Amino acid sequence: MHVSPSSDATARDGRDCLGAALLARLETLAGFTDGGTALTRLYLSPAHRAAAGWLAGWMEQAGMTAHVDAAGNVVGRYEGATPGAPAVLLGSHIDSVRNAGKYDGTLGVVTAVAVVEELNRRGERLPFALEVIAFGDEEGVRFPVIFSGTRAVAGTFDPACLHAADADGVRLGEALAAFGGAPAALAADPATAARVARALAYLEVHIEQGPVLEQAGVPVGVVTAINGASRYTLGITGTAGHAGTVPMAGRRDALAAAADMVLAVERQALHTPGLVATVGRLDVLPGAVNVIAGGARLTLDVRSPDDRVRRDGAAAILDACAIIAQRRHVALSVDQTSETPAAPCTPALMDAFAAAAARAGVEPKRLPSGAGHDAMVFAGVLPMAMLFVRCRGGISHNPAESITAADAGLAAAVLLDTLRHLPVQALS
Ligand code: GLV
Ligand code: MN
Ligand code: MN
Repeated sequence: MHVSPSSDATARDGRDCLGAALLARLETLAGFTDGGTALTRLYLSPAHRAAAGWLAGWMEQAGMTAHVDAAGNVVGRYEGATPGAPAVLLGSHIDSVRNAGKYDGTLGVVTAVAVVEELNRRGERLPFALEVIAFGDEEGVRFPVIFSGTRAVAGTFDPACLHAADADGVRLGEALAAFGGAPAALAADPATAARVARALAYLEVHIEQGPVLEQAGVPVGVVTAINGASRYTLGITGTAGHAGTVPMAGRRDALAAAADMVLAVERQALHTPGLVATVGRLDVLPGAVNVIAGGARLTLDVRSPDDRVRRDGAAAILDACAIIAQRRHVALSVDQTSETPAAPCTPALMDAFAAAAARAGVEPKRLPSGAGHDAMVFAGVLPMAMLFVRCRGGISHNPAESITAADAGLAAAVLLDTLRHLPVQALS
């Protein structure tokens, strides 16, 4: 299969063909699910294990050495012209949200492997090695922590995160050990640290997850920066009681307080330019039709391209929740589960992506990312950049998520061409 950046019809046919092959790989990957009618693949779950095994097998067929590392990341290495040369890291994630689409994260992983497969088919070696990494904890859905695998590679993993427990009380460290990982190695693995210290850059292809490229009529875009995010778990304790006998005036209803807080979150974000804030999960205890809720727990996710707006917005939301708790005579606990600052992408790499897209006949749009990505963990660690791929209707975190084969094939061709023209001098 001939994969070319040029804009002529033969090149386009080759890219469409490659895109169709990529979509077939993505269908296969979507078959590794933890159950339900749509795709759900949580960090360190049986589906994650199965997907990792399948992926490592494909990486080996594509000419790489492959292994699953201490954090459960699948790592494939394709040597450059000189064995042992520093690597360019190509990554994204294979964990998903619940009821996910098939492309969030996985698109970047299969695109990277397909690029190596093409180089290997041609017997072509670049002046640097390529390491494809399929991270396992980009969504932060199973445990109240995020980017465990990415941070282990970047050298910024906090060992306290090993104690974070999922909804069944299973701790991250226990789940990782059962998966076959090495919890003790996440915070300080000298071999990984040495590899990353020598690496040249981190590049990631990802579905846009928004409507900007589609509305602009452009198949790929170059990300300028990734919005920062703060996440919290709020616990509310009231008094459980009989739904028929306790007078309304005397109640300490944890669910009513939670509802008030959800609306306060929405109000604050609506009235703050540049701020988005979401309560995506609400658990109620004991959760029965005839019992006043004695407890409630909710998640809070606050984001902005501007770190000050995010921090001030989160502080204002938490103040409002504290006032609601006081007024409703319930106890409130606040646990911050993650904080990831906004991450600007590296200009030289943005230009390299844009130049490769232009050689393919596309004037790429430059746009910020509202979603979080593995790439943001590498900000300040390695030069990093992202290429976005057009998303149908801007729909993501939804089984209806969709891309075209032509756009996927184009993204792979642009990534390959970017690597062939990488401004290595500007990076080292
Ligand atoms: C990942 O998709 C995130 O932005 O939460
Ligand atoms: Mn993603
Ligand atoms: Mn996602």
